[in-house]
Amino acid sequence: MNARKVIIDCDPGIDDALALMLALASPELEILGITVVSGNVPVEKGAENALKVLDWMNHTDIPVYCGEPLPLVRDYVDAMDTHGEDGLGESAYPPITSIRPKEHAVSFLADTLRREEKVSIIALGPLTNIARLIQTAPDALSGLDEFVSMGGCYKSHGNCSPVAEYNYWCDPHAAQLVYEAFSTEPMLSGRLLHMVGLDVTRKIVLTPNLLEYIRQLDPVMGKRLADITRFYFDFHWNQEGIIGCVINDPLAVAYFIDRSLCDGFAAYTAIETEGICLGQSVVDAYRFWNKPANSYVLTETDHFSFMKFFLSRVINAQNPLSDTVLHQLVTVPCQNKPDYT
Ligand code: BDR
Ligand code: CA
Repeated sequence: MNARKVIIDCDPGIDDALALMLALASPELEILGITVVSGNVPVEKGAENALKVLDWMNHTDIPVYCGEPLPLVRDYVDAMDTHGEDGLGESAYPPITSIRPKEHAVSFLADTLRREEKVSIIALGPLTNIARLIQTAPDALSGLDEFVSMGGCYKSHGNCSPVAEYNYWCDPHAAQLVYEAFSTEPMLSGRLLHMVGLDVTRKIVLTPNLLEYIRQLDPVMGKRLADITRFYFDFHWNQEGIIGCVINDPLAVAYFIDRSLCDGFAAYTAIETEGICLGQSVVDAYRFWNKPANSYVLTETDHFSFMKFFLSRVINAQNPLSDTVLHQLVTVPCQNKPDYT
């Protein structure tokens, strides 16, 4: 199999950790490096978490680079209320001391894109590193194959404001710059940014029942996933009335590997950087602005197939997953109505 070369840009983050696990367990990917950005947690903490995941998955050979500590313009707002003080659900796993993160994620991105052919980027956090890459090394973009970004929302409501999703809300200027580059940058001409937004990721819910199934099949992984998601479960119950947790980022990795898991449409998308709609991804689905598409916006996903894909790779089980059991456990996620009473 010819594995595709990728760099994963992320802000681990509980769901980033799950996405890294999935990527590391996927033979279709050759991961050249992991670049980290400030998002869910400050960049140094995120890099430490990436090292923990590499250690769990026996892949400390893959380098981790620290990137931008602050958004381009806006004050930095972390998401430790969602991911815990340590970014991994306050799971208290010991730090990895035998290897250290490297510096200069943006230089690593530029050098790698210039040196290697056909490198894709899967971005799972705010787009600050990618915006800096475009600002400082636009020539390197000729080496970019595909670009997938978990972020934004089209018809779904936001998770940081009524209309904004966290990654684009955290650094809206970076998101704006990156989406604009897919319209105007000659090196990206004719390419589309794949937007894996809340419209699809909200349908991906890890539930206590699924966790129990994982624990029965693979006690080690079951305990690890339970440890890092407990905090996330509590957050989702308090915030959205959901029993379980929405795991956004792994869907971006899965979609990169298997396009049949999601569907969408091409459109021009702009990012708002001011006012009450700050961070909103405005998708011109009906061509009011008559601009060529710069994005491919995902709207549909098969959440059962995703969960089977995810579990079959991440769990180290003796026996194959049972479709019958999975069908009982993978439920259509409940979209609770807001309660104003
Ligand atoms: C995104 O924001 C972060 O909290 C998650 O890691 C994910 O990348 C979802 O809005
Ligand atoms: Ca993330």
